[in-house]
Amino acid sequence: MTGPAPSAFYRDEHLHVVEARLADLPEDLQGHISRSRAIGADLCEIHGVEPDAVDLALAAHDLFKAADGDELLAEAGRRGWEADAVERAFPFLLHGPVAALWLMQEAGIDEPSVIEAVTWHTTYAAKMGPVAAMTFLADKIDPVKVQEWPWLEEVRDLSYRKRAEDAVELYLSRLTTRLIEQGEIAHTRTLDALNYLRLGRKAML
Ligand SMILES: [Fe+2]
Ligand SMILES: [Fe+2]
Repeated sequence: MTGPAPSAFYRDEHLHVVEARLADLPEDLQGHISRSRAIGADLCEIHGVEPDAVDLALAAHDLFKAADGDELLAEAGRRGWEADAVERAFPFLLHGPVAALWLMQEAGIDEPSVIEAVTWHTTYAAKMGPVAAMTFLADKIDPVKVQEWPWLEEVRDLSYRKRAEDAVELYLSRLTTRLIEQGEIAHTRTLDALNYLRLGRKAML
């Protein structure tokens, strides 16, 4: 899962801009973000991924998680995001895209690996790089989430056994299966991501 190390120009200045906003978030969300950052650091060490980019992405990923649906739709529209039908029906799906747009438009962060990781941390997407994979997993295996959903234990164990791609594939598979079986809506981007990972694993890309 190693990739080219992004430049560290953003580390201090940009992290401060993001961290200044964290204090405004509800306490439980701040707790989740800080646990995810700690897990992200572990996963980066295990997988040999550049930790600063993952830390910045995790610090920012849920900056808009506490916003309500109407706010998210308005904010997304104002920032130039064209919501699709599923996002319009479930606006919480926009909290990643809105956070990424805020990073670019307000914090001046344009590091592609960080923007990609923040944008797609909820649905995931095809062709994600290692920063996005670490960010995604660190968000999903927060111990509070694992306690609530025991099936995440296997995702956590794969992540810590240096099998990030398998861990992402398992998560996406469980997520889409559960949503579809329960009569809920699965975003096609998640299915695209799952298919892409499986095509890669089967050497069919
Ligand atoms: Fe999130
Ligand atoms: Fe999160």
